[in-house]
Amino acid sequence: MANPVQTRAEVLSRSVEGGYHRLLLSAPEAAPRVRPGHFATLACADSGRLLRRALAIHRADPEAGTIELVIAERGDGTRELAATPVGGRLDLIAPLGTPFPLPDGPVSALLVAGGYGSVPLLPLGEEIRRRGGQVGFILGAAGADRLYGVEQARAITRDVLVVTEDGSAGLTGRVTDPLAQAIRAIGATEVHACGPMPMLRAVTTIALGLGARCHTAVEEAMACGVGICMTCVLPVLGADGVSRFVRSCTEGPVFDGAKVRWDDIGTVPPDLEGAAAMGAAR
Ligand SMILES: Cc1cc2nc3c(=O)[nH]c(=O)nc-3n(C[C@H](O)[C@H](O)[C@H](O)COP(=O)(O)OP(=O)(O)OC[C@H]3O[C@@H](n4cnc5c(N)ncnc54)[C@H](O)[C@@H]3O)c2cc1C
Ligand code: FES
Repeated sequence: MANPVQTRAEVLSRSVEGGYHRLLLSAPEAAPRVRPGHFATLACADSGRLLRRALAIHRADPEAGTIELVIAERGDGTRELAATPVGGRLDLIAPLGTPFPLPDGPVSALLVAGGYGSVPLLPLGEEIRRRGGQVGFILGAAGADRLYGVEQARAITRDVLVVTEDGSAGLTGRVTDPLAQAIRAIGATEVHACGPMPMLRAVTTIALGLGARCHTAVEEAMACGVGICMTCVLPVLGADGVSRFVRSCTEGPVFDGAKVRWDDIGTVPPDLEGAAAMGAAR
């Protein structure tokens, strides 16, 4: 796990971008520790909303001591967090999780986002460019209002493809439609993806088929976010050839897509370490 801190972070500014709320928070102790792919958890003020809500960290500025979050209103918790006024404070724990692996030198990487999956991929793209690499983006969503960060991506690279399912922006279809062509076009050896599970599974299959490595940031429901409750586990193949449930809040949320057993998520595969004992205990 990263070296997280808990703080009462003041909301310094807020804005709306498409269907998303963007909050700039003062978090001077957390900001220098953040790497692309880390996430934060936030407490809701309403005590009826017991569990903290997980949000990817968008940008972190160590000099300014700030971090940014991007929130899609989904239910009561995200509605409450998104409505925090400037000057209000949020109980924040950050950074959490295992971030995207960063290349030692120049690589060609394709970054593929579904909806707000672009939140951690935009700073990752900037970091890869800083290391001399080449970057392309495919940003997809159901419709134009669910896209996030198209102009930010265009400021990083000219290679940006926008895809919407309803055709309201860019190409009509899914991020997987132009994926193979985009991997070939920029000679990508790395694919980084963040979005819904079915998208990650499909992106992994295509990337591996073309010989690229695929790093996937999963979004499993997380109750604690710090490795205690086991609500966020996924079946993952270990380096020793044995599959185990691993926690996406600590070992993830970024996993090598080739190791995740996508078809078995939500099940207890019989060959999983400990599966027999789990069956006997039932
Ligand atoms: C690593 C990670 C990064 C995320 N990054 C972002 C982000 O950058 N922007 C953003 O808008 N959302 C993000 N999410 C999703 C966000 O955590 C959920 O939308 C939010 O928890 C829903 O809470 P709610 O009270 O609004 O909705 P409700 O549906 O009312 O939530 C009820 C409960 O279910 C849990 N829950 C429901 N859906 C999810 C979900 N998809 N993932 C995890 N827990 C869930 C909540 O924690 C809560 O306890 C991320 C989730 C994870 C795990
Ligand atoms: S969310 Fe509790 S162990 Fe991962």
